[in-house]
Amino acid sequence: MTSAHPRVLAALGQALSLELTAVQQYLTHASLLEVWGDQSSSDRFRRETVEEMQHSERIVKRMIALGVAPSASQLRPVATATDLPGLLELNNLLEDQLIVHYAEAARFCRLIGDSTHAEFFQELLEEEQLHSGDIARWLSELRPHLQSQVRARF
Ligand SMILES: [Fe+2]
Ligand SMILES: [Fe+2]
Repeated sequence: MTSAHPRVLAALGQALSLELTAVQQYLTHASLLEVWGDQSSSDRFRRETVEEMQHSERIVKRMIALGVAPSASQLRPVATATDLPGLLELNNLLEDQLIVHYAEAARFCRLIGDSTHAEFFQELLEEEQLHSGDIARWLSELRPHLQSQVRARF
């Protein structure tokens, strides 16, 4: 069994909390959009929910490989809005938190020479950066007049 620095284990636990928070939030938003009659956006949110589920699964598998019990202790309440752009803005905030977390976790792993986990967190970082860019583009299509305020990240 491989081992990891306690801070790496803590970073995995916090990552799981954030990913499962995203699952809960995007699933709720998908259901809300269905109620609002926007099936196409609802389907897109549901696909995003599946992506965050897959991220959660990768983290759970990594924790099991390290011999620790996954426990997401800080699942946050779902943040909601009254329209689609409002939901997307909230989701961009959550993606920002994931990006900051993965960037910091990857940086720490590189610092201590843990290349396995540096790579693990770096891959998740890059996927969330792409996701964040998708959300920012979608938002700018909905609110072209606010385009200059939307920060696209690649
Ligand atoms: Fe994710
Ligand atoms: Fe994401």
